[in-house]
Amino acid sequence: MDYSVSSKNPAQTRTDCLVVVTGNDGRNPPASLPEATLKQIRELVKSGDFTGGKLKTLLVQRPEGLAAKRMLLVGTGTDKALETGPFLKLAARVAGALAETGAAGAAWILDNIEVSGRDTPWVVREGTRSLEDALYRFDEYRTEKRPAPRLKKWTLLTEGNARALKQAQSEGAAVARGTALARDLGNQPGNVCHPEYLVEQAKKMEKQYEGLKVQVITEKQAEKMGMGAFCSVARGSERDGRIIVFEWKKGKGKPLALVGKAITFDTGGISIKPGANMDEMKFDMCGGASVFGAIRTVCELNLPINLVGVVAAAENMPDGRATRPGDIVRTLSGQTVEILNTDAEGRMVLCDALTWVQQKHKPKAIVDIATLTGACVIALGAHAQAVYANDEALSGALLEAGETTGDRGWPMPLWEEYHEQLESPFADVAHIGGPKAGSVTAACFLSRFTRDSKWAHLDIAGTAWTSGNKKGATGRPVPMLTRWLMDEAGKK
Ligand code: BES
Ligand code: MN
Ligand code: ZN
Repeated sequence: MDYSVSSKNPAQTRTDCLVVVTGNDGRNPPASLPEATLKQIRELVKSGDFTGGKLKTLLVQRPEGLAAKRMLLVGTGTDKALETGPFLKLAARVAGALAETGAAGAAWILDNIEVSGRDTPWVVREGTRSLEDALYRFDEYRTEKRPAPRLKKWTLLTEGNARALKQAQSEGAAVARGTALARDLGNQPGNVCHPEYLVEQAKKMEKQYEGLKVQVITEKQAEKMGMGAFCSVARGSERDGRIIVFEWKKGKGKPLALVGKAITFDTGGISIKPGANMDEMKFDMCGGASVFGAIRTVCELNLPINLVGVVAAAENMPDGRATRPGDIVRTLSGQTVEILNTDAEGRMVLCDALTWVQQKHKPKAIVDIATLTGACVIALGAHAQAVYANDEALSGALLEAGETTGDRGWPMPLWEEYHEQLESPFADVAHIGGPKAGSVTAACFLSRFTRDSKWAHLDIAGTAWTSGNKKGATGRPVPMLTRWLMDEAGKK
């Protein structure tokens, strides 16, 4: 996509399609439109062709008073300023409607767009991101591809500091590209996307981005290093497990660390899952995919930070060598774990990855990302990821990044009381805490491996993909993570 920001007069802007947003009943149209166009909009409202209702659209050919070939009218359904979420939906709707036209270029007038508490760079950044995200397709395995959107040129018409707005637009596009990578990896089926495939993708990125280093820990090496928890999961599959490590060193001081769960397929292992919807367990690597996505955005923006990305990749399968319920393993941290249900594999691959990154890189803060528990889906549904942290400032920063991008999180407890559920008669810790508060006890388990670091855990089980007829990876929480990283890069 060719992006630009322009302060040109909309009437004189030569474009395939001018995007015009109005409130309910066509109220509050852009003041920069000429009278002939405003009159046409009033007539279209009067005739009932355009209502200005929420996300309603009308495409007008050869609009009055404009150099544009088409005008796309889009309604907000309100006379008030938009909130963050509704604005992002509006931008996605604009993209969707444009994709269904023959327009190869479009220009959106922003002068009447008001989003509560947000400035113009925000509108440009998040609008660009949302637009791009809405145009995403995953057609790799379709013999007959769905028609690709023709839209190639995207202009935002607004006044303001041209350099700052250009920068905001580049940021939005870079976050969208990171999100698209996370979606691509997530959508790949389990027979293609296995740990070694993820290694190949990481190595491609290493070649593509100057300054990005990739290191790989094989299952054999992990075994030798004492990662008994990681190996207890990887052991059950024909496909070897891998720990992929990205290193980006363009800042000062200790690095930040992202650690992602990448179970490329989760059958449950010996504690096998029921068949219904098990296909969705190909998405069980979306935490790892979000690390890939965030790294991509960081590289594209050349962010001046030190960052380590760790992706713990394994397949959870039942096999003659697979872990049994009741097995006890020693983790890299030295703590022993009684495995009670082999379907709780995410915390096992993560605990060793968390210990390793602390031993090796002494990060100043760690965020792990995982599709960890079905219980989290019950608790928060698809709107918010669960945010756990042992540090108030870190938790606040992530929640804030979520609000800013509409990729929202919600704070959850790590109280001592919940830890009692993890007592084991045989080992240092039991690896599950029973049916109550499953997302919380999973987080409590992880917290036992990050006591000496500033650490946060995102349970993205409800947000990483959508089910049903629009099934697919969402790329969340790449927007939250990259906003946080950009904020960190801005701190001096
Ligand atoms: N990957 C699943 C969690 C999951 C399930 C995410 C459904 C999204 C939708 C995880 O590995 C798992 O199976 N967790 C178990 C833990 C339980 C055995 C303590 C779960 O949530 O049922
Ligand atoms: Mn599982
Ligand atoms: Zn899992």
